[in-house]
Amino acid sequence: MAAIACLRESPRECALRPWPGSSARARSRAGENGLDFCPDDSLKDHELRIAGGISSDSVESQPYIWCAALRRRFERAAMIDYYKIVGPILTRLPPENAQWLMLQFLRVGALPPERKVRSEALRTDIAGVKLVNPLGIAAGFDKDAITGSTLFRLGVGFVEFGTVTPQPQRGNVSPLLFRLPEDSAAINRFGFPSEGSEIIARRLEAYFLRPRRPDKVVGANIGPNSNSANRVDDYEKCLGRLYEVADYFVANVSSPNTPALRELQYGAEFARLAERLSICREGFGSAKRKPLFFKIAPELSVTEIQHVVRICLETGIDGLVVGNTTSERPASLVSDNKRQAGGLSGKPIFQQSTEMLSRVFQASAGKLTLIGVGGIFSAQDLYDKIRAGASACQIYTALYYRGPHLVPTLLDGLGALLARDGYKNVRQAVGAAHFAERVKPSPKREVENQRMRSRAADRVAPSAA
Ligand SMILES: Cc1cc2nc3c(=O)[nH]c(=O)nc-3n(C[C@H](O)[C@H](O)[C@H](O)COP(=O)(O)O)c2cc1C
Repeated sequence: MAAIACLRESPRECALRPWPGSSARARSRAGENGLDFCPDDSLKDHELRIAGGISSDSVESQPYIWCAALRRRFERAAMIDYYKIVGPILTRLPPENAQWLMLQFLRVGALPPERKVRSEALRTDIAGVKLVNPLGIAAGFDKDAITGSTLFRLGVGFVEFGTVTPQPQRGNVSPLLFRLPEDSAAINRFGFPSEGSEIIARRLEAYFLRPRRPDKVVGANIGPNSNSANRVDDYEKCLGRLYEVADYFVANVSSPNTPALRELQYGAEFARLAERLSICREGFGSAKRKPLFFKIAPELSVTEIQHVVRICLETGIDGLVVGNTTSERPASLVSDNKRQAGGLSGKPIFQQSTEMLSRVFQASAGKLTLIGVGGIFSAQDLYDKIRAGASACQIYTALYYRGPHLVPTLLDGLGALLARDGYKNVRQAVGAAHFAERVKPSPKREVENQRMRSRAADRVAPSAA
């Protein structure tokens, strides 16, 4: 009945009407923060905020508000795992429609009940930005930040939105996305469709800055407009507009779907871009210094890697995201779609991108922070990337094939692998493949450790009582 009543009301009435779990304090705080809708008692946890580009009064936003309201009420009662219903439908739809629909579901928070994986051993950081765990969502999944903070309900430690361009643009013409199910892969040629930095900045500001949420780390992936007369200026404009609202930045110089973009990774062009962005960031003041990365292609040669690494170290760039989709087609591909033009992602690029990660780690002697992405489908894949040199990793294609339960599965598995190999935390394992094998504690030492732990527990127990 409550749900039907809610449908008859305007979104604003619906939001402000007393309902289970919505306190007067939460509603008034929502108002103070310029939000029209606060579906939960706790501002810290609520997923849906309508702000920036979408106003709650707009026709566009009304169905989302109502869906979120309904979802909240039913989910509390039934703990519904929406993916069990939605997943099979998504796989039967054409890939672009499936992606659109998935984002709409995420936009209203229709996800499995949240599972936070917050083991102390998984806490880490990327260039000083603290993460609750080292697994994030890669750029391109939510290009315009429309899902707000709901993606964090998957259990990830960070989300990279974008690629964001300074001016709004449409991107390429459909078809843009192809499944290669036999290869657990995808090919896309989106070419940076973006609502533009102004709208996305306003959205991020509403979702993540009011109030600030340090446990939800947001990256902004930036790129130039396709018709840009000056690409370097475009990166600067995006960095300037988004600087306050994101925790770290990634200049994308490696998408295979924007003509000539990849030229920016090489020689003097790369040096000029890195220097300009570095100077631009200094202009924001050292107190507010935020990490700046470049995202590179997985096909760079050893000499090209060395050049990129040298320029990054010279200009103070914090690290690299390794790497983007590839325009190469491994001979192992069997799916019919393998000849489609665009960037290949998923399982077939795991090996290439992990070897590249290893080379970058070696070339920088571990001085650059690396984010590993490409073909992660299992906890072992995630662990391998970390051992190859990644401080944190990202997933994309595997989420399409395996669904949202993949995130806790990967993180639990990573925790078990770290414990198996005697690492106290994930930081100790970064780049471990390049060093002498870590010696596991001997069984005798383990027994001694156990004895010391129980003695310590005994000492604490009486005073606690
Ligand atoms: C449909 C699709 C769109 C993407 N869009 C972007 C993008 O806008 N910017 C970007 O830097 N990377 C983009 N990527 C690349 C991913 O961020 C990631 O680097 C790549 O997919 C490899 O990871 P995976 O094998 O886990 O998918 C996109 C990938 C896919 C599949």
